[in-house]
Amino acid sequence: MILALQIGGGTIVALALFQLCLGVYSSVAVVFRERRLDARHLQHFNDLAQAALRNAEVDRLKSGTTWAGKRKFRIVEKRVENKCGDICSFYLQPHDGGELPPFLPGQFLTFELPISDQPAPVIRCYSLSDSPSRLDRYRVTIKKLSPPPDAGETVPGGLSSTYFHASLKEGDVVDVQAPKGGFVLDLQSERPVVLIGGGVGLTPVLSMLKALDDAGSHREVHFFHAARSGDDIVLCDEIREIAERRNNVHYRVLYSAPTDACVEGRDYDCPGLLTVDVLKRYLTSSNYEFYVCGPPQMMSSLTEQLRDWGVPDSDIHFEAFGPASVKTVKSPASSREAAESVQVEFSRSGKKVSWHEQDGTLLDLAERNGIRVASGCRAGNCGTCATALKEGDVTYVTRPASSPAQGSVLMCIACPGGNVILDA
Ligand SMILES: Cc1cc2nc3c(=O)[nH]c(=O)nc-3n(C[C@H](O)[C@H](O)[C@H](O)COP(=O)(O)OP(=O)(O)OC[C@H]3O[C@@H](n4cnc5c(N)ncnc54)[C@H](O)[C@@H]3O)c2cc1C
Ligand code: FES
Repeated sequence: MILALQIGGGTIVALALFQLCLGVYSSVAVVFRERRLDARHLQHFNDLAQAALRNAEVDRLKSGTTWAGKRKFRIVEKRVENKCGDICSFYLQPHDGGELPPFLPGQFLTFELPISDQPAPVIRCYSLSDSPSRLDRYRVTIKKLSPPPDAGETVPGGLSSTYFHASLKEGDVVDVQAPKGGFVLDLQSERPVVLIGGGVGLTPVLSMLKALDDAGSHREVHFFHAARSGDDIVLCDEIREIAERRNNVHYRVLYSAPTDACVEGRDYDCPGLLTVDVLKRYLTSSNYEFYVCGPPQMMSSLTEQLRDWGVPDSDIHFEAFGPASVKTVKSPASSREAAESVQVEFSRSGKKVSWHEQDGTLLDLAERNGIRVASGCRAGNCGTCATALKEGDVTYVTRPASSPAQGSVLMCIACPGGNVILDA
């Protein structure tokens, strides 16, 4: 510019000034355009970075603080969560005073309970219901199961849930396995997400919502909470508080059997069961990631309806809190099928037995033949019944929540695909 002024008089000066202005204008325009782009992408980048950092932190901490087998935990608080008193939260801290490993939102704890009259510790899973960022204590929220309404008087209530509610109190110590489970929220994704919790099945999806909140995520979140009525619903205040604070979180409550005290529009949004028709009322399309947890009937109907609505399997994540003590023996197959049997060898017990279709799963078959196999959920979720398959092949009657280790099978949901040898 100075050079241009000295060399060549007015024309050159004007040209230089024009070029200068043009250059400055283009640079400013580029900066502004980039800023607009930046603004749009900055948030996305920030969210991704936060999620990646969080996952890295989880991995880092986990390697140092997690434990193998069982660890003793003290119940530091027991809190009744609903009006009818059948759902309680239990807050747990390590008895050894050590640190707690973080967990992924949606994971569960596995308890080993020394219930009297039981031949072996009763193993049951309970989802972590609080924020994965709370590392001073874990929380599980447990519904006490009564016998089914049509069951005879001799049928007992739920073993583990009754034990938690009736026998365990603050100060007691329980044996707990480290958090695990494959039903976890993908924190790297930026897609809109639908979280669905039916009854006490709310627990893992509540933890997912809290994880999104803690990460400051701007994902569009729809939380559907199904309960029978205001007497049954739990932890809704925690969800409402987040939804009121965050524009991207939308919370809807459904009551299937509202009492006279429940006011539509104030206490709940919709009467009836949660179906895809209800979802369609609130969602603009089916293009969401769905995370569903609830009673088995809700799970099977809702996941079917989501598929019919065009949601790909890869976008439907679910976990069912299946009954643990109720055996799932299938109805007798046709006589031709019944006549076809395969040989199942339990090598460690030294037993060889025939399996017919009506024998149900390999776990059912083992128990009927006096072979003890540790089990928890009986629904392919907890991994407790994983057993080495030494020979042969199996087919799964339902999809395992997460694949067992190479060479192992989940006996609670597996049937033999031919002759098999199991290390049991
Ligand atoms: C991954 C995972 C996470 C879970 N998270 C939670 C959670 O957060 N909160 C929660 O509350 N639950 C949760 N569950 C369910 C929980 O693990 C237990 O399955 C549940 O508490 C029932 O266990 P129970 O021992 O009390 O009942 P069980 O003894 O297993 O009995 C189940 C039902 O069968 C009935 N019954 C027993 N014997 C008979 C019989 N002979 N005939 C007919 N009926 C019978 C009982 O009365 C009861 O209603 C989860 C399950 C899984 C797999
Ligand atoms: S008992 Fe839980 S996976 Fe089989």
